[in-house]
Order: sequence, then C-alpha cells, then structure tokens
Amino acid sequence: MLRTILLGAPGAGKGTVAAKIVKEYNIPHISTGDIFRDNLKRKTELGLRAQEYMTRGELVPDDLTCEIATTRLLEDDCKNGFLLDGFPRTVYQAEKLDEFLREHGQSLDKVVQLVVDDELLIKRLTGRRVCKNCGATFHVITIPPKEEGICDNCGHELIQRADDTEETAVNRLKVYEEQTSPLVTYYEEKGLLAPIDGAGTPEEVFQSILDVLGD
Ligand code: AP5
Ligand code: MG
Ligand code: ZN
Repeated sequence: MLRTILLGAPGAGKGTVAAKIVKEYNIPHISTGDIFRDNLKRKTELGLRAQEYMTRGELVPDDLTCEIATTRLLEDDCKNGFLLDGFPRTVYQAEKLDEFLREHGQSLDKVVQLVVDDELLIKRLTGRRVCKNCGATFHVITIPPKEEGICDNCGHELIQRADDTEETAVNRLKVYEEQTSPLVTYYEEKGLLAPIDGAGTPEEVFQSILDVLGD
C-alpha cells in the first residue's frame, strides 16, 4: 500500500522513475499528461481541448484536470494505492485532491520531489524520444535506444513530443516555477515532502526514492 505523488519540473524524470516504482509496489501509475496524450491520439473531445494548452506549454484548466484525475482515482485498481505523476500541479488541484482523499477516508504517505536544475531539465526535454506505439521513453544521449530511432521494447518508431521544442520547454519551466513550485511549501508544511536529488542515473534516483519510502 502506497499513496504517493511525484512532484518535479518538466523533464525531472518523473515518468522514467515512476515506471520502476509502480513495478516495485504494484500500484497504478497515474499521469495526467499521459491521459491527455492518450485522448489526443484517439481524438476525443477531452484530448482536443487539452491539446490547445499542451502545445503552448500552458496548464490545462484546473476543473477539467481535477475531474479527470479524481475519476481515475475512483477506479478499482487504486484501492491499494497509486502513484500520481504530474498531478496536482497547482495549489487549487492539491486542495481538490485533499478533499477527495478525505471524502474517501484516504491520505497521502509521502510526496517525493525530484530536484533537478534548469540547465539539465532543458537537455533532458530536448533530447527525449518516445515510442509512438508503447510510450517507452528514451534520451538521445543519456538513455539511447539500441538502434537509433527505434523502440527497444516493441520495434516501433521513436518520435519527439510536440511540446519538447526548446521554446515550449522553456515556457513549461516558467509555468512550473509560477504555478507548481508553491506545492513544495504546501506539502512541506504538511510534513509530507521528501526532496530527492534527481540528477543521478535512473537507478540511483530509484534507490534514493526506495530509501525515503521505506522509512
Ligand atoms: P506531463 O506529461 O506531465 O509533462 P511534464 O510535467 O512537463 O513532465 P515530462 O513528462 O515532460 O517530464 P518527466 O519528469 O516525466 O521526465 P521523463 O521521465 O520523461 O504534462 C504535459 C502537459 O500536459 C503539461 O504541460 C500540461 O499542458 C498538461 N498537464 C498534465 N498534467 C496537468 C495538470 N495536473 N494540470 C494541468 N495541466 C496538466 O524524462 C525526461 C527525459 O530525460 C527523457 O528523455 C528521459 O529518458 C531522460 N531521463 C529521465 N531520467 C533520467 C535520469 N535519471 N538520467 C538521465 N536521463 C534521464
Ligand atoms: Mg512525464
Ligand atoms: Zn515501443
């Protein structure tokens, strides 16, 4: 049982380390960004609405995002815990999440914050490549696929996310600073925050997280 949030700027490595954590704890990985991208792929109304904001690197409106996240949290597989990645992203979203958890007699165990400096974040974002088919994530320098442009898992083509251009990445970091970073204090005051150095290898970051979650 683990109810946790991975907090961190765009490119901090949330998705990469989340994959390892959810395997270890056997809990669902809930990424609002992944939900929006999946909807866009299927051209649903939600996906098309979210796209307007995502391509600019802006946040999708709070009420829509909260609705999506809480609906997902009501699914059966969340009964034994969950890992939230990229949600909440504003104080309003965090308050809505608290309200939801309270109503369902649940509480958070920990909020893991991945700390990475801006220069490294930009390098990670602009070098990221993702599989069109299975969503696996690579990096042209730090985590290259065995064959350039091809997914190790399923053999499909690797592409660049539409919001990983340098210009949009810079705006996403600004939006994080303005709208999401206040959550650091928010969770610190609740005694839930566990800051982790996110600059190491994926394995090192994963081990540091296991250490704080094991406490
Ligand atoms: P979202 O999909 O959540 O994107 P993000 O927060 O910007 O974060 P990223 O997915 O870009 O980075 P990550 O931390 O997962 O890094 P990754 O592991 O891939 O959101 C996208 C958009 O959706 C938002 O801009 C917004 O519009 C909307 N949205 C989503 N949630 C929302 C919400 N709650 N409210 C409102 N709007 C919302 O790693 C990055 C790269 O680095 C990869 O190439 C990876 O291979 C590499 N890497 C990772 N870890 C390491 C490591 N340890 N060492 C070396 N390389 C590494
Ligand atoms: Mg991600
Ligand atoms: Zn793949």
